[in-house]
Amino acid sequence: MKQSPPKIIALDGPAASGKSTVGSRVADALDYLFFDTGVMYRAVTWMALVRKIDIHDENAVTTLTEDTPIDVRSTSQVDGRACDVLVENEDITWQIRRPEVDANVSVVSAYPGVRAALTVQQRRIGKRGKVVMVGRDIGTVVLPEADLKIYLDASAEKRARRRYDEIIARGEKADYAEILQKVIQRDHIDTTRDIAPLKPAEDAIILNSDQLNEDQVFEKIMALCA
Ligand code: DC
Repeated sequence: MKQSPPKIIALDGPAASGKSTVGSRVADALDYLFFDTGVMYRAVTWMALVRKIDIHDENAVTTLTEDTPIDVRSTSQVDGRACDVLVENEDITWQIRRPEVDANVSVVSAYPGVRAALTVQQRRIGKRGKVVMVGRDIGTVVLPEADLKIYLDASAEKRARRRYDEIIARGEKADYAEILQKVIQRDHIDTTRDIAPLKPAEDAIILNSDQLNEDQVFEKIMALCA
């Protein structure tokens, strides 16, 4: 008899490892909800920047997180987005991808109060099941009960190269060395923070995509779901 796919799939890994792209494909194939939890940390960072709250003022950023519900919904537009991100009815899906958010989000996501507030919201959605939840701490903290935990890894060089190629493909300018430096810097902050640092859960399956293309990673994950 064919087994049904795992109800809760946790997909963790470092910045630019391709988690979101492959996670959204897996969710589509299984007809599951795709939930990229990174958008919530990005939304808080964007709101803090817009409201001119000092990113290093932990109390102010935590209060902002507690007071501002973030709405993550399925896509309303075909413009390359994987989900809609709304705060106070304003669509900030693309604003949260700006370089100033990239530069500040690791600081915001290291604050325990910010993590606590967002983890509650993520858990509530995840526990409903039929979900592919992507992040850094899904298998370790948010949903340790997930039926399938995958840790998608790749070398910093490979991840920086992919980011670089994406930017060039959009017709924009990019500096590989600068991107690599930022990837390494974010890895350092994400893996060394005190609360919920980036690391594979003990029972996670580790997939290294250095030698795999996007289709091959997708096929491997689908095989694990079969
Ligand atoms: O995956 P991303 O680049 O959109 O994540 C943005 C930031 O949020 C990154 O610094 C790591 C952090 N993050 C986190 O700490 N925990 C998560 N579950 C998801 C993202």
